[in-house]
Amino acid sequence: MAIEKIDVVIPAAGAGRRMGAAVPKQYLRIAGREILARTADIFLSLPFAGRIIIALSADDTLFDTLDTAANPRVVQVTGGRERSDSVLAGLRASQTEFTLVHDAARPMVRPADIERLVALALDDDGGILAFQSVRDTIKLADTVSDGTARSVRTEPRELLWHALTPQLFRTGLLIKALESASAKGLPVTDEASAMELAGYRPRLVSSDPGNIKITEPADLAAAEEFFRHQAP
Ligand code: C5P
Repeated sequence: MAIEKIDVVIPAAGAGRRMGAAVPKQYLRIAGREILARTADIFLSLPFAGRIIIALSADDTLFDTLDTAANPRVVQVTGGRERSDSVLAGLRASQTEFTLVHDAARPMVRPADIERLVALALDDDGGILAFQSVRDTIKLADTVSDGTARSVRTEPRELLWHALTPQLFRTGLLIKALESASAKGLPVTDEASAMELAGYRPRLVSSDPGNIKITEPADLAAAEEFFRHQAP
């Protein structure tokens, strides 16, 4: 059965301050191409991806300098104060039953992982790429205000996953879940957390752990290395 087209929302309205660069991190170049352009390229080449909706900061002046901006499948919307506001703005422009949401700052996602996510999570609960963190024993600390921490308990690490993107949900259900979390003042750092609050149980689909969010200068070096070994 052929998959219906799926629109893609890329929130790219953040300042990326932890990077300490002169331009927002999505415009830094890795191996000669901007991070945001590289991220958009991945989705533009997926046969089931519909339009690529990019949420930009209201004062963005750089997006129009990318060749990505001239692609007829690329749509721009204005993002908001929080990542979830930017995602909502993008979702409202989506025209498909399901929408993929993917951080601009994750240009190393593997197309095969996105294909697996779509194959496994096209239902009411949706799903996300994630990976299991099994290396260390994980402690829950008590709440402390003076910088000291004491371990309260050991978390069962076989149940702990890192939440990555893309995240795939029914467009209408995700809009409702994000609006409801926002109305209640509940912080959501990814789409799945809004869906969990609305009572859904998004599927966790194993991702290659190299699908990192470029956050700090050291991540840029890792990304350079990755793209240098890719065919041009
Ligand atoms: O800041 P952080 O790295 O968590 O941001 C994740 C993604 O969300 C980035 O692609 C960033 O540009 C985007 N974002 C956004 N609107 C905001 C804050 C972040 O689109 N207000």
